[in-house]
Amino acid sequence: MATVVAVEKKKLDNPPLDIHYLGDRVLRQPAKRVSKVDDKLRTLITQMLQTMYSADGIGLAAPQIGVNKQLIVIDCEYDDPDSPPLVLINPKILRSSQQTCGSDEGCLSVPGVYLEVVRPEAIEVSYKDENGKPQKLQASELLARVIQHEMDHLNGVMFVDRVENDLALTEELKKKGFALSAVQPIK
Ligand code: CO
Repeated sequence: MATVVAVEKKKLDNPPLDIHYLGDRVLRQPAKRVSKVDDKLRTLITQMLQTMYSADGIGLAAPQIGVNKQLIVIDCEYDDPDSPPLVLINPKILRSSQQTCGSDEGCLSVPGVYLEVVRPEAIEVSYKDENGKPQKLQASELLARVIQHEMDHLNGVMFVDRVENDLALTEELKKKGFALSAVQPIK
């Protein structure tokens, strides 16, 4: 079946959804499982993709737009108009590699802040796609990182919670006008 969410990869003057920022309570609530993948959900998926492309993002999780659902959109190939985006509904990590790696991350909910986060280098994830079909995916490098970052959002976790360099974290947040108290460090 062809993908049902065909969204043009371009910036809109008025993206359909508002993104919530670090410090907003909605980002800290655990998301609920999606029980039905229907046209209403696909409309939301379309709007999330439009909002993500408009903000130059490569991933967006439903809690970031104030929707308490286990739903993620990702597109690491934003330069390729023919490469379909990845839609993850009720994702679950089945396996994570022992090997970890560190790389700078950013987040549409913490604009302008880029800091190093250490994560497993590869993962295997199960999920439902936008047609409600169960899928499995093995990912490594950037895609693995984006999936883990977005899945954190579904648990109310922000990437800044995982930053180990306290000094850099304090400086960067201050520079971009975010309160350090909005961070909930993971120990
Ligand atoms: Co994020």
